[in-house]
Parts: sequence; structure tokens; C-alpha cells
Amino acid sequence: MSVFPSVSSFSPSPLRSAIVTRLRAAGCVFAEDEAELLISAARTPSDLDAMVDRRVAGLPLEHVVGWAEFCGLRISVGPGVFVPRPRTAFLVERAAAVAPRPEGREAVVVDLCCGSGAVGAALVAALGRAELHAADIDPAAVRCARGNIAAAGGRVYEGDLYEPLPAALRGRVDVLVANAPYVPTEAIGLLPPEAREHEPLVALDGGADGLEVQRRVAASAADWLAPGGCLLIETSERQAPLTARTFARGGLVTQIAACDELDATVVIGTRPA
Ligand SMILES: C[S@@+](CC[C@H](N)C(=O)[O-])C[C@H]1O[C@@H](n2cnc3c(N)ncnc32)[C@H](O)[C@@H]1O
Repeated sequence: MSVFPSVSSFSPSPLRSAIVTRLRAAGCVFAEDEAELLISAARTPSDLDAMVDRRVAGLPLEHVVGWAEFCGLRISVGPGVFVPRPRTAFLVERAAAVAPRPEGREAVVVDLCCGSGAVGAALVAALGRAELHAADIDPAAVRCARGNIAAAGGRVYEGDLYEPLPAALRGRVDVLVANAPYVPTEAIGLLPPEAREHEPLVALDGGADGLEVQRRVAASAADWLAPGGCLLIETSERQAPLTARTFARGGLVTQIAACDELDATVVIGTRPA
């Protein structure tokens, strides 16, 4: 717990409304909520000034305060690390729903392309207990995930997809989740500046059709899944049939799940028992 009082204990409402005005002028749609959050996160008035400046300059709110709320957890998000999106809660929810519950041992969960580790951490919280392994190619993401996943008793590895995972996990994974990058290269320019300018390209760019990383995840999944184990990948509604085809090619029994409320689509594949 911080030894500093939060600024909220001494911020008068004229200051609050000045912040709202600045945020609104900078295009922040939820300026009141953001002002409230910044005021509660800042430890000193000068800290608050600096935070508002960074937000007005276009930094994602989560990078300014250093955390994102995800599935009811507070996930630390360092500079240059992908901010977990609300829609990805559907990936966690589906994974918890289809996860095999092995008798006499914890389920083995792998979060590939883990970024901050939000998905793995939330999935373990939803399952109650699990043996969690997570991996990412980006050293900044790995550092961040280590902080978030240690609390869930998990281990984080750095490298390309399956390459850094312990070989002993082959054929033992009950749930493999991946929110891999799936934006087609030519659509990167259409993303909001917060993503384009403050999240790394490796977290966003899924190659020509957006499926390059997903295809590689699906192709090797059956080697790592236990019989009856599941692979779940977040994708877009438009790309879902193509993502599903890569699962079927990888020998998985495949279904597509969608959530209109979160605008989320997940492809689920099961390794036949
Ligand atoms: C869309 S972000 C998702 C992060 C996190 N799973 C989440 O939902 O918040 C994709 C992540 O995949 C990682 N990544 C991209 N290519 C990778 C690869 N070949 N191997 C491992 N990680 C990769 C990026 O570094 C980034 O952290």
C-alpha cells in the first residue's frame, strides 16, 4: 500500500473540472471518468499534472495509470505493452467453460502471446487453481507478465510461440489460450492512434491476412494439447471461418463462439481424446 495520500483527498472541484476540460479538449470521450481515475491514482499534485499531460498527449489511460481493469483483476500494464481489451474477457469466459477438470491434479493452462499476462491470470482466477505457463516474444511484455502472473503462481517464458515452453508440457496441456495479433497489415493504419503509436507492432500485426500467427499456433497445438484438451483463439467475426479452417487443418474438432455484447469472437478446437 502507498504511504502517500492520493490527490483525491486534497483536490478541489475547480481542479477536477479543469482536468475534465483539458481531457475533453484532447478528445477523451469519458473525460469525467478519466479525471476521477487520474485524481485517485496520483500521489501528489505534480504527479497529477504529469499524468494529465501524458494523457492529453495521447498515451492510453492504462499506460498513464500503469494498470488495466480486466475480468475484475487489476493488471499492471507497462509502457509499450498491449493493453488488455474488454472483449478478451469472452476468451477467458469460454476457456473457463470448456476447460477439462482433471481429477487429482490441477489443469495445465498455457497462455501464448500473453502480453501483460491478463488472460492467463484471469483464467486461473476463474478456474480457482491451475498450473499456469505463459510466453511472449516481446521482452517488455514478458517482464510485465512476470509481475502479473507470479501472483497466480505461474511461469513466464520469452520466445517465439511454443519454442520457449518446457518440453515436458508436450501432450499435457489442458487449455491453450492465445490472443495472438490478428490485424491484417494493411489495416494497421486504420487503428486508433492510441494503439498505433503506443502499442508495439508485434502485438497488432497479424500479417497479410491477419492470420499468420494464429495459423502457426493452430498448426502445432495438437502436439502440446492433452487428449481432450482445448485451444481457444480470439479472432474477428469476419476472420472466424478462416481461423476455424486453420484449427481443422491442425486436427482439432472446431466450433466458433460469439458474444454480441462484447463484440467478441473466439474459435475453440478440441484435440480428440
Ligand atoms: C494482441 S496482443 C495480446 C496480449 C494479451 N494476450 C492480451 O490479450 O492482452 C498479442 C501479443 O502477442 C505477442 N506476439 C506476437 N508474435 C508473437 C510470437 N511469434 N511469439 C510469441 N508472442 C508473440 C506480442 O508481443 C503481444 O504481446
